[in-house]
Amino acid sequence: MTKLTYLGHSCFFLEDEKHRIIFDPFLSGNPLARISPEEIKVEAILLSHGHGDHLGDAINIARSNNALIIAPFELAMFCQKKGASVHPMHIGGSRGFDFGKVKLTIAHHGSAFIDEDITYTGNPCGFVVNFGGKNIYHSGDTGLFMDMKLIGEMNKLDVALIPIGDNFTMGVEDAVKAVEFLNPGVVIPMHFDTFDVIKQDPLKFAEKLKNSKTRAQILKIGESYIL
Ligand code: NI
Ligand code: MN
Repeated sequence: MTKLTYLGHSCFFLEDEKHRIIFDPFLSGNPLARISPEEIKVEAILLSHGHGDHLGDAINIARSNNALIIAPFELAMFCQKKGASVHPMHIGGSRGFDFGKVKLTIAHHGSAFIDEDITYTGNPCGFVVNFGGKNIYHSGDTGLFMDMKLIGEMNKLDVALIPIGDNFTMGVEDAVKAVEFLNPGVVIPMHFDTFDVIKQDPLKFAEKLKNSKTRAQILKIGESYIL
């Protein structure tokens, strides 16, 4: 059984009987998160880009679990310097891991780690992951792009995880077009409500998809979807 659990913002936990991975573990800094990073037990952490609301607790989780961070090269090197085990990849590349196969896709966004300085962390990405025989697309933070059509054509997507929060990423209208391009079985909206500027009603998104072949599955934080 392959199970996907929404941990808030763009963070999803993916597990089956043998493997456990997480995407963009922004937990301790997320006012809506309901689980602490100390409770996360995983073998790999997939990071789409270096912004704080995605890198989040990744380094601490990687170190405490001896888990591998899989990320675009520059971001992987950044994490390695902070003491994490990493596997660098880049856009267009794919690689098999114990838990499954990962391919990095483009994402139209930025990527930097920002504290008192701004550290460039390469290009942002999305992921197509084959896990437990299912194809999961996590777009990362991105605007709508035409190549989503190609991602949909080349991968029979069981689930697509796409942002709807607007302002920093696609909003509802563009996310509906993204669904048309990607043609997944199920779409789960992400990257909304965490901050005032990305407040969104996911039911509006679901409503616009009511005549689509794709089913919108809105997960509350902490809820799971069985693939
Ligand atoms: Ni971002
Ligand atoms: Mn973000």
